[in-house]
Amino acid sequence: MILNSFHTPVLLTKVLDLLSIVPGKKYIDATLGGGGHSLEIIKRGGKVLGIDQDEEAITYVKKRAREENINRNLIICEGNFRNIEKIARENGFERVDGILFDLGVSSFQIDSSGRGFSFHKDEELDMRMSKKGKTTAYDVINHYRSERLYELFAQNAEELNSRAIADAVIRARSIKKSEIRTTKELSEIIESVLKKEHPNKTATLARIFQALRIEVNGELEALKEALGDAINLLNPNGRIAVISFHSLEDRIVKRFFKREEEGGRLEIVTKRPIQADYNEVKQNKRAHSAKLRVAQKI
Ligand SMILES: C[S@@+](CC[C@H](N)C(=O)[O-])C[C@H]1O[C@@H](n2cnc3c(N)ncnc32)[C@H](O)[C@@H]1O
Repeated sequence: MILNSFHTPVLLTKVLDLLSIVPGKKYIDATLGGGGHSLEIIKRGGKVLGIDQDEEAITYVKKRAREENINRNLIICEGNFRNIEKIARENGFERVDGILFDLGVSSFQIDSSGRGFSFHKDEELDMRMSKKGKTTAYDVINHYRSERLYELFAQNAEELNSRAIADAVIRARSIKKSEIRTTKELSEIIESVLKKEHPNKTATLARIFQALRIEVNGELEALKEALGDAINLLNPNGRIAVISFHSLEDRIVKRFFKREEEGGRLEIVTKRPIQADYNEVKQNKRAHSAKLRVAQKI
């Protein structure tokens, strides 16, 4: 496995094998990240259109592509994959043989972007993948009403303490009309409502932070919009592969594939989601929640 400080690609070999890369054919990597999957598709002879909404990911992969001398076979585009059809047409990728979505955030974004994705750090509450995004985590935490926060934590995080956490956020805001500005402040508020003997505070923090990030970036809506458009771009027998890290994302993909199979547009290739094996998880902890689903256009 390629270990990369920007981001280590998950389920790499399985993705490549299941996308059945054919030399000379075109592929779209809708979530370029550090380019880990794209680079390997290119090494197997494919031509790639790589999309990412994060300017810093785009800059990183442009440099990496120059260094690895693969510029000829990689078109890099900054944008949101909810516009996948438009981006593909503008770049001559309106007919492709495979599309990959590797959802969520990269290790770089969590560990080094300074944008407040991690509760392990003390950073401004931002969480936008794209700096052009209008809503930040600060806006959600400081401006959403109690009920909306509760719904967000209950639905996106499936967190049992959602009501108490939402109430604690509202209380912290109302004390001398203060603002909640940093990840540390938010973590302390969340922890304050968890009992001392709470078995897994870290899991609750992780779930709430992930739920917030999903809201800030409109991730579920973008996924729902992009899946149908992605199928339009596939040639017959072309494949779509989606790696998700959250049960709500996986449910969206599972239901979409099922509906499209019933409608006669797709055939499901992976009857059950594929997960990383013990060795991969040992080397890359992030892989433990990854689920890969693949379907083929009829
Ligand atoms: C898990 S990383 C991808 C890692 C990549 N496969 C690799 O191996 O290096 C997810 C990337 O998708 C990007 N992303 C997430 N949602 C997006 C969206 N709606 N449109 C475009 N990019 C998105 C993030 O900015 C992040 O860089």
